[in-house]
Amino acid sequence: MSIEVEKLSKVYKLKKSQKKVAVDDISFTIPSGEIVGFIGPNGAGKSTTIKMLTGILVPDGGTISIDGMNFKKNRKQIMYKIGVVFGQKSVLCWDIPVLDTLKLFKDMYKVSDSVYEENMRLFRDVLGIDEFINQPPRLLSLGQRMKADLAASLIYNPDILFLDEPTIGIDVLSKERIRDFIQKINRERHTTIILTTHDVSDIETLCEKMIIIDKGSLIYDGTLEDLKDKYKTTDLEEIIKNIYRNGEMKYA
Ligand SMILES: Nc1ncnc2c1ncn2[C@@H]1O[C@H](COP(=O)(O)OP(=O)(O)OP(=O)(O)O)[C@@H](O)[C@H]1O
Ligand SMILES: [Mg+2]
Repeated sequence: MSIEVEKLSKVYKLKKSQKKVAVDDISFTIPSGEIVGFIGPNGAGKSTTIKMLTGILVPDGGTISIDGMNFKKNRKQIMYKIGVVFGQKSVLCWDIPVLDTLKLFKDMYKVSDSVYEENMRLFRDVLGIDEFINQPPRLLSLGQRMKADLAASLIYNPDILFLDEPTIGIDVLSKERIRDFIQKINRERHTTIILTTHDVSDIETLCEKMIIIDKGSLIYDGTLEDLKDKYKTTDLEEIIKNIYRNGEMKYA
């Protein structure tokens, strides 16, 4: 499942007829089966873009094609094929046990018993969800909640997974567990993954390709290797700082 984005834009209407251009005419392609780091400084427009790519927000301009389908015509088909996790906000039912939400998703997405069992085994083994599966999300720690969200977004085997800051506020060991899990899903199921993160080591360990945006505009689309060659260093944090600084100067 590839994603093609062309001239995508989003303008938020603020008070007193002011406007904020959050995403400004960006185009990119995400090939099937890749893990792509979707990077940019705070306020760059990453979450806004992900919300448009997952059908939560309607773009003000441009087109999104998900394996040749679009939200206007094929909304339902697309919804079966994509999963999304927002580190800052849960998609789970706040007050009911995680297990009940997973069962609800099983029914909603028409997941067979065998696929459900297989996935639950994976979530138990790799994410350790048994520890908190009978608790409602409101009683969970941030890391547990994130693992529950990951399970819910993958219980129906989506072809594309959007992860908006899935490691925010997560301890080092849990982070490693979440990264291993993301890698496993990508390798074994060829799930296309779009990952937003401010953690440079997330990008180092997971992504071959990076898309960088700043102030709503695309500023890099290519491999990590090419970026390291271009900046003549392997220090990704330094490279990213440089790019963000240049952006600041350009827009100052
Ligand atoms: N609902 C909204 N109404 C008005 N402006 C918004 C809204 N959501 C986001 N914005 C603005 O749009 C811009 C992009 O925000 P967005 O949340 O997409 O950034 P981001 O790249 O995800 O940043 P972060 O790394 O901090 O999560 C910001 O300037 C933000 O203030
Ligand atoms: Mg964001």
